[in-house]
Amino acid sequence: MVARCRAVAGACLQGLVAQDGIFRNSGLARRAPVCQDSRVPETRLIQVEEDEMKEAVTEACALLRAGEVVALPTETVYGLAADAFNPEAVARVFAAKERPSFDPLIVHIASRGDLKTVALIPEDILDTVNQLTSAFWPGPLTLILPKHPDVPDLVTSGLPTVAVRQSAHPVFRAVNKELSRPIAAPSANRFGRISPTSASAVMKELGGRIPLIVDAGACSEGVESTIISIEPRSGKKPIFRLHRAGPITKEQLQEYGRVEKIREIKPETPQAPGQLDSHYAPLTPLILLENPADFVPEDGKKYGLLSYTGEDDSPYVNLHDWELVESLSPGSGKLAEAAIRLFFVMRVLDEAGLDAIIAEPVSETGLGVAIMDRLRRAAVKG
Ligand code: TXA
Ligand code: MG
Repeated sequence: MVARCRAVAGACLQGLVAQDGIFRNSGLARRAPVCQDSRVPETRLIQVEEDEMKEAVTEACALLRAGEVVALPTETVYGLAADAFNPEAVARVFAAKERPSFDPLIVHIASRGDLKTVALIPEDILDTVNQLTSAFWPGPLTLILPKHPDVPDLVTSGLPTVAVRQSAHPVFRAVNKELSRPIAAPSANRFGRISPTSASAVMKELGGRIPLIVDAGACSEGVESTIISIEPRSGKKPIFRLHRAGPITKEQLQEYGRVEKIREIKPETPQAPGQLDSHYAPLTPLILLENPADFVPEDGKKYGLLSYTGEDDSPYVNLHDWELVESLSPGSGKLAEAAIRLFFVMRVLDEAGLDAIIAEPVSETGLGVAIMDRLRRAAVKG
């Protein structure tokens, strides 16, 4: 069933929180979003069930064809979509997010066949691209490839490369297919802030700035796609440079090539975009506490714990009389659940009026690599 809600700059957030199912009692509606774009006095919201999405898809496509931006669910996080071949629409994405123009966008395609419309694939990596896209698309793997001249420079921030993926989310796929154009879509948050994994989180970030949010509930992965570039090697498997850890893990990629991290980029060198240190950041200072013994609380300050399991026997849970404890994977300690809940839990703690959030590390294996990457970036103040 398609339900509709006219929301004046986030006015019905409280209701949304309840409808999210897993996102109850979060207090997400406490702070009203800023209304910046006078062209967009209110943000409409369409709720959609997977088996009945026609109205939402039609409305989203109508707006995208008119050069507007629309927030759409993907399997990783909600994205702020625009027609990738329309530079004016893409400019609206940068404006709504307050994103610096040196930080390029990911282009989403409807089918593997569409890859040639946005990228020029060199012969020496063609087999590898075919293997990776057969194995992981549609899904949360983004490939950095030489750009097709039709992709506007604004999308790629003037780089000769383009980042491309095919989303696995049924709503995003349906919009991508019906639009018959590639979709540029960064995460639907203000620049540097926590990525949204629910429509209510998008409303908080961008309510009053964009005309439409399509709400299909919580995202199933919870962290953004894995991003790699490919370096061919003659007679050997290629090297995959890991630009961002994500749901497709190093272990999964290793079957097809050797995975190596790219050198971390400092904010002073924006010509190498994307990996700015401070990212995914709550407004409340977040401290990643690698060793519980290093915690020295200041008198009178309120601390909250971002715990892995929240279990009583954890050395972190018993370290302090916490104002609030929020767990990534309550009880069970599953990395997949922790990834899904990460940004939601960060938001809850951010809105609890704390002086600092203390984060417990998770084991850096599989999905834990992506979780620790986000926690480290959230902990750095830019
Ligand atoms: O899961 C995802 O990837 C989500 C959903 C919406 O698809 N998108 C997302 O987009 O996380 P965004 O813009 O928040 O992050 C994209 C990252 C940025 O760090 C950007 O700098 C990097 O990809 N990027 C884009 N194009 C690039 C390029 N040509 N070379 C290097 N990095 C690039
Ligand atoms: Mg982002």
